[in-house]
Amino acid sequence: MNEQTQQAEQMNVLEPHEWRHKTIVAGTEWKNPVGTASGTFQLDACGDYYDVSQMGAICTKGVSPVPWEGNPGPRTAEGPSSMVNSVGLQNPGVDHYLTDELPRLKKLGAMVITNVAGHSDEDYAQVVAKLADSQADMLEINVSCPNVSHGGMSVGTDPVALSRLIKHLRALTSKPMIVKLSPNVTDIVQVAHAAVDAGADALSLINTLVGMRIGINTGKPILANRTGGVSGPAIFPIALSFVWRVRQAIPGIPIIGIGGIDSGEKALEYLYAGANAVEVGAAALVDPTAPMRVARELDDLLDSRPELAAKLAKGQTW
Ligand SMILES: Cc1cc2nc3c(=O)[nH]c(=O)nc-3n(C[C@H](O)[C@H](O)[C@H](O)COP(=O)(O)O)c2cc1C
Repeated sequence: MNEQTQQAEQMNVLEPHEWRHKTIVAGTEWKNPVGTASGTFQLDACGDYYDVSQMGAICTKGVSPVPWEGNPGPRTAEGPSSMVNSVGLQNPGVDHYLTDELPRLKKLGAMVITNVAGHSDEDYAQVVAKLADSQADMLEINVSCPNVSHGGMSVGTDPVALSRLIKHLRALTSKPMIVKLSPNVTDIVQVAHAAVDAGADALSLINTLVGMRIGINTGKPILANRTGGVSGPAIFPIALSFVWRVRQAIPGIPIIGIGGIDSGEKALEYLYAGANAVEVGAAALVDPTAPMRVARELDDLLDSRPELAAKLAKGQTW
């Protein structure tokens, strides 16, 4: 595709649009079923590319109780149809988020999902308590962070620790709470049940899979952190099967499908796997307008699928 065609396509994506197919996630209405995935949207970097109020939801970068510097570089490497990142949840902290990015996004009319990060139960609790009276529409608890209080294992890989954390957070907020599951487990259904039984209003899945690259001229890992999280088109069939398995096991729970989405067709597969909505991640790092393009393509595809569209509009799934 030449540059002009690309530009023309982008212009089309940015034209005003009347959304025809909404969805409902944990009682919260989205004007379309497509959101941005955490860590791949930042207002200062992406906000100029499209009208953020026109996305189903904007999910922001994980926020921690205090600023985190993240991991040393190199932090990203390419993989086959994928990327590997070890950004390490760098963020300016919840106080900055509450006075800067969140009010700016709300002023622009965005539906905001705030992604929450922590290294201990107390970290998560501090952030959730501060967000309880904020303008955030939904919270997404990222339980894939290495958990200091559990020896560096992520809390999302241990159903007992996950249950304790979610019960604790449930008592601190009445906001819709999405728990974002890690795929790096033997049995995703077991951790999904633990989150739902402890009070999660919805699940989002998946976060990145553990991966690495090695420089063949150095014989050393490319990432300074050695391993990182794999995302992008390569993980699409894997993530889809995770969503499908959780939907089969837990019929009523709202699910947001994430992983490798770069087209309306792929988003549609997630809806047929039983998701209520999707989030677009790494595709936005290749083309910042990708989340809006996916939303527009999906809106067109749902026109000829009235049964699925009607279910989504009522908060139901396929
Ligand atoms: C650079 C980068 C940063 C990310 N940061 C976060 C984060 O802060 N919190 C989180 O829950 N997920 C984070 N993720 C994971 C994505 O939200 C998403 O779950 C994952 O990349 C799979 O989707 P994709 O294949 O569409 O990218 C990050 C992903 C990337 C590529």
